[in-house]
Amino acid sequence: KEIFLKDYKSPAFYFDTVDLKFSLGEEKTNVASKITVFPSVEGTSSPLVLDGEDLKLISIKVDGKELKEGDYHLDSRHLTLPSPPQGKFTLEIDTEIQPQKNTSLEGLYKSSGNFCTQCEAEGFRKITFYQDRPDIMAKYICRIEADKSLYPVLLSNGNLIEQGVLEGGKHYAVWEDPFKKPCYLFALVAGQLESRDDVFVTRSGRKVSLRIWTPAQDVPKTAHAMYSLKAAMKWDEDVFGLEYDLDLFNVVAVPDFNMGAMENKSLNIFNSKLVLASPETASDADYAAILGVIGHEYFHNWTGNRVTCRDWFQLSLKEGLTVFRDQEFSSDMGSRTVKRIADVSRLRNFQFPQDAGPMAHPVRPHSYIKMDNFYTGKVYEKGAEVVRMYKTLLGTQGFRKGMDLYFKRHDGQAVTCEDFFTAMQDANGADFANFLLWYSQAGTPVVKVSSSYNAEAHTFSLKFSQEVPPSPGQPVKEPMFIPVAVGLLDSSGKDMPLSSLYHDGTLQSVAGNNPPVFDTVLRVTKKEEEFVFCDIFERPIPSLLRGYSAPVRLESDLSDSDLFFLLAHDSDEFNRWEAGQLLARKLMLSLVSDFQQNKPLTLNPKFVQGLKSILCDTGLDKEFIAKAITLPGEGEIMDMMEVADPDAVHAVRTFIRKELASQLKSEFLSTVQNNRSSEEYTFNHPNMARRALKNTALAYLASLEDPEITELALCEYNAATNMTDQFAALAAIAQKPGKTRDDVLADFYSKWQHDYLVVNKWFSLQAMSDIPGNVENVRNLLNHPAFDLRNPNKVYSLIGGFCGSPVNFHAKDGSGYKFLGEIVLQLDKLNPQVASRMVSAFSRWKRFDESRQKLAKQQLEMIMSANGLSENVFEIASKSLA
Ligand code: ARG
Ligand code: ZN
Repeated sequence: KEIFLKDYKSPAFYFDTVDLKFSLGEEKTNVASKITVFPSVEGTSSPLVLDGEDLKLISIKVDGKELKEGDYHLDSRHLTLPSPPQGKFTLEIDTEIQPQKNTSLEGLYKSSGNFCTQCEAEGFRKITFYQDRPDIMAKYICRIEADKSLYPVLLSNGNLIEQGVLEGGKHYAVWEDPFKKPCYLFALVAGQLESRDDVFVTRSGRKVSLRIWTPAQDVPKTAHAMYSLKAAMKWDEDVFGLEYDLDLFNVVAVPDFNMGAMENKSLNIFNSKLVLASPETASDADYAAILGVIGHEYFHNWTGNRVTCRDWFQLSLKEGLTVFRDQEFSSDMGSRTVKRIADVSRLRNFQFPQDAGPMAHPVRPHSYIKMDNFYTGKVYEKGAEVVRMYKTLLGTQGFRKGMDLYFKRHDGQAVTCEDFFTAMQDANGADFANFLLWYSQAGTPVVKVSSSYNAEAHTFSLKFSQEVPPSPGQPVKEPMFIPVAVGLLDSSGKDMPLSSLYHDGTLQSVAGNNPPVFDTVLRVTKKEEEFVFCDIFERPIPSLLRGYSAPVRLESDLSDSDLFFLLAHDSDEFNRWEAGQLLARKLMLSLVSDFQQNKPLTLNPKFVQGLKSILCDTGLDKEFIAKAITLPGEGEIMDMMEVADPDAVHAVRTFIRKELASQLKSEFLSTVQNNRSSEEYTFNHPNMARRALKNTALAYLASLEDPEITELALCEYNAATNMTDQFAALAAIAQKPGKTRDDVLADFYSKWQHDYLVVNKWFSLQAMSDIPGNVENVRNLLNHPAFDLRNPNKVYSLIGGFCGSPVNFHAKDGSGYKFLGEIVLQLDKLNPQVASRMVSAFSRWKRFDESRQKLAKQQLEMIMSANGLSENVFEIASKSLA
C-alpha cells in the first residue's frame, strides 16, 4: 500500500507512558505492554488503530478489563479498537513473538545467540501492537527477564533502575528512559557481552559512563570506537554547544545488522563492521568509517532524538542534518579537502545515477510503499548537501544561530523540514526565497555558465542558466535557489580581490572591501541570470562552485587550458581536484567514443604531464595527490553517457590506467619506495595520507603485465604490518588472473578465516573483480563455508560487490543479471530489506543498450511474477519497470 505525504493526519490518540515487560525465551518471547492513552481531542469518536506484524495476540485489556473477541478487530497488520473510552485510559496488551526465527533483522531478533532490536523505521510493530509512527512520543520503562547464564547482560534505553535474581536460573533488569521518544528509538539487548568502559565528563561537569559491548574476544578491538565516541562528544560541545543528557551511553556491536548502525536513545546498536578495528584487521577506510558513524549515531542524540521527525517523509530532517554533522566532524578530525572530495565522489557515483533513474525522489519523498526503501543517498547525502547550503549562505555563525533556535523551539518535539528551514531563516532574518524546492523537487539540476570579459569596461560577466531534468511524477520543474561560490584567478594564479557586481540591474558591493574579499557566493535563483563583476583589470579564470557549494551538474565554458591552470593554481583545493576530474571526464568520454568507433586509443600527453606534476609535487598533501591522480569511477562516466556502455568505459579506464602506469613507471615506483614505513600503525592524517598515496601508486603499477611489479606487490604483501597495506597489495596482485593471484588469495584466507570481517573483504575483492566470466567464481563462493545468505554483511560483500563490477554484472550474455535475479528471490524469503537493496542494481536497466535492456527486464519481470514477494522488493522492481 502506497502512503502519501499529503495524507498526513495528526494522531487521534497520544501515548503518555509505556511500560514494557519482556520475558525472553528460546521457544517464544512474551511481550507485555501497558500504555496510558489519551485522545488528542476530548470526546473523539475515532477508533484506535494499532500496527502489528507477525505477532500472536494473547490478551488485551482496557482499564484492567479484558476485551472479548468482537470488542476489537484483528487483521494481519492491525489491531483496532472501534470505540475506545472517551478520556484517558490504560491499554494492556500481551503478545508472543519468536525472535529466534526472525531473519528479517527488524523488530526483536537474535544475532549469534544474543537478542537485539532494530525498530527504525517500522520494526517496533513486530515487537508489540503500537501506533508505530514517530509523532507518538512517550516515556518508556522496560523490564527484561531472561536466563541468567545465557543472557548475563540485559540492556535497554535510559537508566538502570532495578535488577535482581529470579527463580529457575533467571534474572531481570528494569530500565527507565526519562526522555520522551518515538518507538523507533526503542532498543533492547540481551546476551553474553563484555564491555570496554570509559568516562566522559561533559563541559557542565556531568560524568558519563561510556560502555562499548561486544563478545569478550572482540573487546580489544573497540579502542578506536571509544576514541571516536569521546572525540564526537567533545566536538558536539565545541562546535554546536550540545551536551550529552544522561549518565550512561551504551554502544553494542552485533554481526547481523541490515544497515550501518542505529541511534536508539542511549543504546546505539551497531553493525560490528563499524565498531571493531585493529591495525591488523581493519583498513584506514574502516577506521575512518568507524569515526564517522560513531559520530553520526552520537550526533543523532540531538538531531533525531531530542528533536525528531513528525513522519517518515521528514527523514532527511534528521538524516541529512546528521550526515552533514558527521561530515564536518570527520573534516575537523582529518583533512577537510580530502573529506569533501570523498563525499562529492560518493554523491556523483551513487546518488546522481539514482537521481536520474526510476527511483528518483526528492529529499523529502511524496510517497512510499515501504519506508526502508527510502534510506537512500537522496535523503542522506543529498539531504546533507542541502544542509551544507544553509551554512554556505549563512556562514558558520549564522548557521549556528539557526541551529540554536531550532533546538530552542523544538526540543522534545516531532517536526518537519519546514520547521528547520524557518528556524534557519528566522534566526538570521534571512530570505531564502524558493529554497524549499530542494526538498520537493527530485533530479539533479544542470547549471550552465558562460563567461565573458570586457577589457574596456573592466567587467567580467558570468551568465547562468539552469534546468532540472524531469523525474517520475515530476515532468516540469521550477528553477532552484543555487548558491554558487566563486573566486576569480589572475594570470599569476592568485585570487583577485572582488569589489562589486551588477545583478538584476543593481550594483551590489561584495561584502567587506577592507579586508578585501576573494570569493563570494552568488545566489542563482532564476532560469537565466547574469552576474557582472566590476573593477576586474585583466581577464580572469573563474573558479566556480568552490567547495562544491551546491549539488548540481555544472557545465562551464572553461577550456582545457583553463582547467589545467586551475588544477595547478586554484586556492580552493577542492576545485583543483575538480579541474583534474573535469579534464579526466572529458578525456574518458572522448576515448569512449573512439573505442566505440574502433579507433585506436591514444592518451593526450598534456594529461600525462598534468598528472605527473601533481604526483611529483612535494608541497601537496599526499592524500590529496592520491585523490587527484585517481580517475573518475566507471559509474560516474556511464552516468554521463546517452547509452551507458560498460565495456567501453571499462576498456577506456583500464587503458588510461595502464598507459599512465607505463609512462610514469619510475615516478610510481619511487612513490611506493618513498612512502613505505616500518613505524607502528597510527590512525592520523599524515600516516593515512602516506599509505593512500603509496597504495594508489602500487595499484597503478599493478595494471602492467610486469613480473617485476608482481614481485614488488608480493614483497609489499609479505612485509605489511597492517590491513591497509596488506589488502592493497593483495588487491594489486589480484588484478591479474594466474597462479600468483590464486596462491595469495588462498594464503590470505587461511590467515584470516577466523575473522569474519576480514573474510568479507576477501569475498568482496573477488566479487568485484573484472576478470572475464567472474560470475562463475561468485556462484562458487556462494557455497563457500564462510558464506551465509542470512548475514547482510556477507551478502553486501559478495552479491553487492559483484553488482559493482560493470563488466561482469552487465555481461552481454545476461549471466550477471540472471545470477542476481535468482539471488534476489532467495534473499527475499529471508530478509526483504537486504533483497530490496540488491534488486536496486537493476533499477538503471533503461540506461543500457537494447539487448541488455531486454535481459535485465526479463529478470525484473521474473521477480515480479514470484509468489509472496515482499513489499520492499515489489516497490523497487515495479517502479523500475514502470
Ligand atoms: N537511523 C539509522 C542511521 O543512523 C539508520 C536506520 C536504517 N534502518 C532501516 N531499516 N532502513 O542512519
Ligand atoms: Zn542517521
